Amino acid sequence: MEALFRDHLATLQQRCIALFEREQLDAMLIHSGSTKNYFLDDYAPAFKPNPHFVQWMPFLTEHPECFLLIKPGDKPSLYIYSPDDFWHMTTTEPAEFWSELYDVHLFTDKEAQLKRLSVSGDVALISENIIELLQLKVKHNPEALMHALHYQRAEKTAWEQRCIREANRIAIKGHRFTRRGFYEGLSEYELHQGYLSATTHLERELPYSNIVGLNEHAAVLHYQHKDRIAPQYHHTLLVDAGAVCHGYVADITRTVSQGNQDFQALLAAMDEAQLALVEMIKPGLSFIALHENMHQKLFSILSNAGIIKREAVLSPLERLSITRTFYPHGLGHLLGIQVHDIGGWQQDSKGLVEAPPEQHPFLRLTRTLTENMVVTVEPGLYFIPLLLDRLKSTSLASHINWALVNELTPWGGIRIEDNVCVTPTGVENYTRDAFNGLN
Ligand code: GLY
Ligand code: MN
Ligand code: MN
Repeated sequence: MEALFRDHLATLQQRCIALFEREQLDAMLIHSGSTKNYFLDDYAPAFKPNPHFVQWMPFLTEHPECFLLIKPGDKPSLYIYSPDDFWHMTTTEPAEFWSELYDVHLFTDKEAQLKRLSVSGDVALISENIIELLQLKVKHNPEALMHALHYQRAEKTAWEQRCIREANRIAIKGHRFTRRGFYEGLSEYELHQGYLSATTHLERELPYSNIVGLNEHAAVLHYQHKDRIAPQYHHTLLVDAGAVCHGYVADITRTVSQGNQDFQALLAAMDEAQLALVEMIKPGLSFIALHENMHQKLFSILSNAGIIKREAVLSPLERLSITRTFYPHGLGHLLGIQVHDIGGWQQDSKGLVEAPPEQHPFLRLTRTLTENMVVTVEPGLYFIPLLLDRLKSTSLASHINWALVNELTPWGGIRIEDNVCVTPTGVENYTRDAFNGLN
């Protein structure tokens, strides 16, 4: 692990040398971020660090007001804010292996430290905040540099891959628990609490709020509640929940169901389709094409299940109107420090953007896949009353077997989401490997 991290830092340094030359920069100053109290309160939400800071310093992710100073060819300087504070635990001089890879400075007075910073030449300040650094020649989040950094971040170093692989291993402990808990009849709240225990995560450490939906709640894409009382029936459980390792995250969804043969068959067909899509991935594949392929697969699944009437003769656009009713979101996204890692629409390091096609507005990834990208593959099939009602009011309504749709609606929906890393010839499936005990 230590060697991987050293190589990771070396790669970031190398990328910087080329970028600084291109952008006529001499240094980069990265702020870890700030906390901000709630309105009229003296408490703040959980701290979320600047992802640029995390990429260079993944071991201090709960530390506001720290800085990294990056100069090509030099060890990064790490300025750790450690105020005189008897309310909180303060940070002490690090002794871990990584401390020797940085020039570490602890400071107590923020204003004084900022005034002390001295760097010659042009400095890119990467920070959410505008920070007054009058003695420096600062460019705040220079656009061209940001585009390049975001573009490059899609391809993960071996260290980053290791962290996401490990986050998957942690997350599947939680998914194993929720699967068992479904058959034991637990409530959404109990399933969620059990997930936290199984992954030894605090709520605030989760990469996103766990989605734990029983029955119809499985059809709410970002279902945000956790019912304390278990429902009378456990038809379906959809859990979309991740984990984190050194700032890098997993984003995994599993669906289990019981009690309806037709829904069970849909679940099996979706699992098969998800695996087939993963199987298609290799460098050079357009993610838009993969997403479109999912819609074709879904049309077949819905037809075979009898939800779309077999005699239906439909144009490609009509087919899409139907499949989008059952599957309104995108097939996946880049994954890394952020759950929806930045740069999914970016086509080059200069900032060329390709928005998703008009008919797929929620697709977060329009890039052609390249080696070392880590992405999610998350097909779904949902019975969403709002969208079904819309379809019912169109001329396509006659092609749908509404009796079957009504029968299956209490089962909510299906999503199966794996995290995969693109290899020279295919993928490493972190999620399935973790479930199968292979990594
Ligand atoms: N958990 C959010 C997503 O799958 O994109
Ligand atoms: Mn996802
Ligand atoms: Mn997810």
